[in-house]
Amino acid sequence: MRSKLVALVLCSGMLFVCGCGRTEPQFSYREGLSPRVQEYVRTTVDEKFGTPHKIRVWDKLPIQAHTALATVGEGSKDNSLVVDISGASRPIEPGTEVVWVGGTIMPRGSAPVTVEAFTKDKNLLSLVAAPPAAPKAGDKIVIGPGQTLTHGRLLYAEHCQHCHGVAGDGQGPTAPYLNVRPRDYRKGLFKFTSTKEGMKAHRSDLARVIEDGIPGTYMPSFKLLKPEESHAIIEYVLFLAMRGESEFQMNNLLASDYSDASVANRIKDGETQEKVIEEFVTRVKEGEIDEEVNQRNEKMIADWVSAQAEDAVIVPKEKRNASDEESIKRGRELYLSGNLNCVACHGESGLGDGVQTYSVTKNTDTGKDNVEPGLYDTWGNKLKPRNLRLGMYRGGRRPIDIYARIEAGIKGTPMPAFGAKLTEQQKWDIVNYVLELPHELRTPGTGVAPASPATKPAPVATTAH
Ligand code: HEC
Ligand code: HEC
Repeated sequence: MRSKLVALVLCSGMLFVCGCGRTEPQFSYREGLSPRVQEYVRTTVDEKFGTPHKIRVWDKLPIQAHTALATVGEGSKDNSLVVDISGASRPIEPGTEVVWVGGTIMPRGSAPVTVEAFTKDKNLLSLVAAPPAAPKAGDKIVIGPGQTLTHGRLLYAEHCQHCHGVAGDGQGPTAPYLNVRPRDYRKGLFKFTSTKEGMKAHRSDLARVIEDGIPGTYMPSFKLLKPEESHAIIEYVLFLAMRGESEFQMNNLLASDYSDASVANRIKDGETQEKVIEEFVTRVKEGEIDEEVNQRNEKMIADWVSAQAEDAVIVPKEKRNASDEESIKRGRELYLSGNLNCVACHGESGLGDGVQTYSVTKNTDTGKDNVEPGLYDTWGNKLKPRNLRLGMYRGGRRPIDIYARIEAGIKGTPMPAFGAKLTEQQKWDIVNYVLELPHELRTPGTGVAPASPATKPAPVATTAH
């Protein structure tokens, strides 16, 4: 195990050192901003999140990054601490680094204070040296900063990076060859979630995607990972998502005044390049930009935290009703109804060929003209509504999965949330109809179920989408 880890470290180290194309360690975005402004974005992101080699996790980030969180008890002194440790994620071994959160975060670059020994039955933690700030009873300490993330990074480099990219931007070296592009995590947005409309993903959603893969796309299943390995990868993916979103937001914030195009416009209006930069530097000095950046980060963090809460997850208020002829018929009527308009995208026969696939000329997200008419996701990729006759569902095929798709839509795509428009029974009727669609017998060309199954259905195409 150890030698494998060392080999991995070396190998990923080499990747980073040689900086081959997209696998270089900067893991970053920052396109189209004027250089001085890019520099601000870089230093701010590095300060908050570190680099792939030196990951930084501030205490507020809702990532399970450390080995254990402990509370200092009475009777502790210098480097011998009585601690109350609840839920250590791995054994506290000698050599594990310690960070103080209750007092101050240990400064970077100084000689690390590490664990000498941990005597579990006595809750006694001996450190190689006394920490700079004397520990007080009640102080919280974090043991093993970033170990889980470091583990996660190595596994990510091995299994995910060639598709999802170093920065989680979905631009790994394999990505250009894939249709249905690997997810760009930097919008903090995931498609197949069990959470309510507009909410971020729950950890268990990422766990499910990693375990089962996404059928009909190149996202493979990683069933063979051990539970602690998937845990580490999930935390790392969350880290990349938060880091990416923070950077993304900073770019958006600054682009209106300092993108290359905005600067060019300002110069056209009589300002000079120097003046623009001077104004930017003043705003940074006065803390105005930092404040705005921090506010956005706090909102993002709050959104991630609330998505992990119990009440974030969709729970049907009523049990699924029997998938009998009546329910399927009601489901079909709803499917065809102008109110829900599933047909506009999925087509009357459910083949994914509705009118919107060739008639939508404006992007619903950006309001700009589409390159080609059709439907696009938030990442700017063209996408097709699912062919519902194939019985292949990317977000899982359990009735509750389909229920969640109807209730909250598919995030980041034009597939809308229908929860507010439907009664519980209607939702289940639609689920029953969707699950029946691949088996539905119909008179070819009419879209109408025949009275008796005398006519065989037209053969269904076997390609994805
Ligand atoms: C061969 C390429 C490939 C590899 C390797 C790969 N993925 Fe993916 N992944 C994809 C594609 C393609 C999608 C997008 C599917 C879609 O949009 O429906 C995706 C989507 C995802 C999503 C988004 C799910 C959602 O609901 O939005 C997550 C999370 C994810 N992958 C995590 C991982 C992790 C973690 C690994 C490594 C353990 C990994 N992937 C390895 C191709 C890959
Ligand atoms: C505005 C267009 C639009 C409308 C309206 C729409 N969908 Fe979709 N639907 C999509 C798109 C696009 C996808 C594929 C998203 C993706 O890439 O995963 C999709 C995917 C699906 C899926 C597949 C879920 C999975 O896990 O793979 C189901 C089921 C579905 N839609 C059912 C419905 C039903 C039922 C209705 C009406 C109540 C409906 N859709 C209305 C666009 C639409």
